[in-house]
Amino acid sequence: GTIGTTPVYIGAAQFAAWKHTQLILDVVEGRGGMFSLDNGTGRRFLVRSRAYGEREIAMLHKADRLRAMQASIESDADSFWLVEAHRLDWSTFPTKADESSFDHADFGIRWFADGELNVSVNCLDRHLDTRGDQPAIVFEGDEPGEGRTLTYRELHGHVCRFANVLKANGIGKGDRVILYMPMVPEAAIAMLACARIGAVHSVVFGGFSPDSLADRIADCGATLVVTADEGTRGGKRIALKANVDSALERASDVDTVIVMQRTGGDVAMREGRDIWWEDACADVSDECPPEAMNAEDPLFILYTSGSTGKPKGVLHTTGGYLLWSTLTYDLLFGPEEGKDVADDLFWCTADVGWITGHTYVVYGPLSNGARTVMFDGVPSYPDPGRLWETSQRLGVTIFYTAPTAIRALMRQGDRWVTRHDLSSIRLLGTVGEPINHEAWEWYHDIVGRGECPIVDTWWQTETGGALIAPVPGATETKPGSATLPLPGVQPELVDGEGHVLARATQGNLVLTRSWPGQMRTIFADHDRFFQTYFSTFPGTYFTGDGARRDEDGYYWITGRVDDVINVSGHRMGTAEVENALDEHVLVAEAAVVGMPHDIKGQGIHAFVTLKAGEEPSDALRQELRDLVRSEIGPFATPDVIQFAPDLPKTRSGKIMRRVLRKIAEGKPDEVGDTSTLADPAVVDVLVAHRMAS
Ligand code: WT7
Repeated sequence: GTIGTTPVYIGAAQFAAWKHTQLILDVVEGRGGMFSLDNGTGRRFLVRSRAYGEREIAMLHKADRLRAMQASIESDADSFWLVEAHRLDWSTFPTKADESSFDHADFGIRWFADGELNVSVNCLDRHLDTRGDQPAIVFEGDEPGEGRTLTYRELHGHVCRFANVLKANGIGKGDRVILYMPMVPEAAIAMLACARIGAVHSVVFGGFSPDSLADRIADCGATLVVTADEGTRGGKRIALKANVDSALERASDVDTVIVMQRTGGDVAMREGRDIWWEDACADVSDECPPEAMNAEDPLFILYTSGSTGKPKGVLHTTGGYLLWSTLTYDLLFGPEEGKDVADDLFWCTADVGWITGHTYVVYGPLSNGARTVMFDGVPSYPDPGRLWETSQRLGVTIFYTAPTAIRALMRQGDRWVTRHDLSSIRLLGTVGEPINHEAWEWYHDIVGRGECPIVDTWWQTETGGALIAPVPGATETKPGSATLPLPGVQPELVDGEGHVLARATQGNLVLTRSWPGQMRTIFADHDRFFQTYFSTFPGTYFTGDGARRDEDGYYWITGRVDDVINVSGHRMGTAEVENALDEHVLVAEAAVVGMPHDIKGQGIHAFVTLKAGEEPSDALRQELRDLVRSEIGPFATPDVIQFAPDLPKTRSGKIMRRVLRKIAEGKPDEVGDTSTLADPAVVDVLVAHRMAS
């Protein structure tokens, strides 16, 4: 049957792929030549297709295709999304697209809800005929050149084997599995193996402490943990298995720990609970029939920080998330006309412990049949040229990283970059925080030889994939702006009362319409999901970010407007750090705010009040630092700990954080009105201390 009335707009690469996979059975009439549509210029074909019967397809260049997509959403969004759904292989094709509502009465996020598919089939099986022997994952270890390549066929075999191991250990559809892994192919294998059998993975970044790991295990009720003996980072070892052991000392439902050998380091194995990955996979079949999953079945939970102390289990589901990863990967990083996706080597430097690693190291690239790099090292090891040496050696063509890394490397001087031949790179990307002008210029001129477009992608753990970003070849970029919303994304800026602001302005960034990659709930706390994101400005999703919109409609993200800080691209709730500090017996109260930091973007400034009679000391300061490291993880270590005799509070006892932020920033003249403080004199004391320190 046919869907909708507008033609299907695709690019040349997609056209070729669809012919290849027999989605297009026959070109009935190729009108050829150039033609003009309202939406652009391109070539037009009448095709007979498996999906739409006889249907017109318009092959457009990127800029035109983007405009055509926008127009097609305007005219008939459901048809548009059902056409886009053909980017995936479904065992049951959906008949409905968006059934979401942001309103309290009929609240819920649902996409493609009567469709069925399996994510691992989309990332692996469907490529086997056409790309079986092509590299899927290019692994680069901590030591330069320590690596290996897995083809799609090899990856498929490993995933099926590990899926069978999970099953043999009692894991089935809906069960939660914690992955606490280095950046090795086994992390992706474990993710895809979960997806294959319908288990829900929750990856916990290897930099998190045993306590944070234990919290996450408990919150999602996981029964199995996958880890490694040790991780390696810049030549140092990370005691992953030992951390799991101490996390599991707290009561939990975990009865199996699967341990892969990464370093061969000596680790304790507990009889009856711990098994080696290699042993478990040894005599297992490499065939594993995929579980047919409903589009709205959970795919994974990923914990992220919010304004309260308790991390949120962001839940993403199967169909919408995979479509959004697949579509946005193609729009942002896909091949140029006439090229194949595998002509590129894509390197996203994010760890799989964060959403960027999920969407743009694993799911987006693999679903598109791309070649994706997994890097288990750090940019500074063995020297500050590592990323560029590796890019040259591997032949990376698309490089995607965080501004904090760019700023840190910029400090080291151009020679670390220019001594390498980076001519293979054609496209650069950034993610995680606003990029300052200086870093943008350096990235563009020195890393990109002044020739590569920079794709600045704004998004969040909650959004599944990029929402505001330029489409290379179609969107003009402006340094420091994430540019324009992608198709189907509808941002608005609202004032404090929720009034929508028109035209060029500044305000709170909200989204007024759902998109397929949107998170569906906070695991086991649907009410908190609604309260956190949809109650501040009713009828909209509130991002927690502020933004400016210029005369061309371009968005400039100004940063968080809530109590969330962004330290080296790591998102943190100030309340989490406060809770950790509060654990110390001598601490009466702690208040944590972000402060500007040249490299990290934001640093952590903690104001700490001690219990009556206790004296501040450098030793205590160090103890508090260590406490935060062990409670949360090294990346949360405060940059400044300022002992404060008192904190600025309103008469109702609320800490006035804007005052603390200005003191931390070193701008005491901007603290503003302090007349509502219970004791305004506190401010002067804190300012004097800050200046003295
Ligand atoms: C927060 C989300 C997106 C995956 C990595 C971080 C900030 C993200 C940008 C950007 C300016 C950005 C926002 C957002 N952010 N990308 N391109 N420009 N700010 O995911 O940990 O969920 O953090 O990162 O403040 O809300 P996350």
